[in-house]
Amino acid sequence: MNLTRFPRVNLTLSATPLEFLPNLTKHLGGPNLYIKRDDHTGLALGGNKTRKLEFLIGDALAKKATHILTQGATQSNHVRQTIAAANKFGLKSTVLLEERVSGAHADYYGNGNVLLDQIFGTSIETRPSGLDMNKELESVGERLRAAGETPYLIPGGGSNPIGALGYVVSAQELVAQANEQQLIIDRVVHATGSTGTQAGFVVGIEGTNSRIPVLGISVRMPKEKQEENVRKLARQTWELLGIRGEFPDAAVEVNSDYVGGGYGVPTEGMVEAVKLLARHEGILLDPVYTGKAFAGLVDLIRKGYFRKGENIVFLHTGGAVGLFAYRSILAPQAAF
Ligand SMILES: Cc1ncc(COP(=O)(O)O)c(C=O)c1O
Repeated sequence: MNLTRFPRVNLTLSATPLEFLPNLTKHLGGPNLYIKRDDHTGLALGGNKTRKLEFLIGDALAKKATHILTQGATQSNHVRQTIAAANKFGLKSTVLLEERVSGAHADYYGNGNVLLDQIFGTSIETRPSGLDMNKELESVGERLRAAGETPYLIPGGGSNPIGALGYVVSAQELVAQANEQQLIIDRVVHATGSTGTQAGFVVGIEGTNSRIPVLGISVRMPKEKQEENVRKLARQTWELLGIRGEFPDAAVEVNSDYVGGGYGVPTEGMVEAVKLLARHEGILLDPVYTGKAFAGLVDLIRKGYFRKGENIVFLHTGGAVGLFAYRSILAPQAAF
């Protein structure tokens, strides 16, 4: 699949590692567990948005934008990485933070990603939850245009067909590593939110006939809605790439059993998963996305969903910065 016709900047340092998790594999006694380290993409403490931003910032520069505009939840990893990417290319930025999680600890509003947003330096505006955030983005875009700027609007999570190209690349990278390591991957599991990761990844797998099933674990939406949203973006990305035939809708599978009380609301499973991976493998997950997705993976292993001997790859999409916003949940016994 040829991606060279899309403008792109370089933000990822190199291919992210694909590692075996020997201790956790043994501890859980189920399938062989591997991890694809997209938490190590290299920009501003890493994460999945870096890959999307290579194409989004590339497109913004091609369109002579002067100002990047995006939105996300208060602890958005996407927002943090977008500000850093804009800085690297000398673009101004404005971000809208939605107060999507209610009743959170003070750390949620001042530590973790919010702290880094302040350090990277940007114009921050907040919005109450329940608004159409992409409409809010449009109206700020109008304001910037009236002030003589050329704004480039990036939707929440960087999830549009251009951003999703970043995950087409990730899928190609993983298939190349599997070939190199002679590893037959039976399934990839990852967190799915604004859909760009799963849509791009599945297009990268299906568009090259690589035959690796992918399971997205939802952090917000119910299964049917999330599958519909992922399929919609996957079809658009398939079309953007000009791949022959129709995108196979059946390739999109989502499990939404691990959302718990809602987006960003901690679950016991998440707390267990974060500690499990940290204590057996020395790897940090995050409380909002990968912690819940990994909790789902662990629970499915315990329920016998995977066969022993199968090779499962967890796609780690980053976000550990968010741990600092949830310290009252993750270490309640510590004296703060
Ligand atoms: C750490 C992390 N993992 C997973 C996701 C979900 O990816 P997507 O929004 O592309 O579905 C996000 C999105 O914000 C994220 O920050």
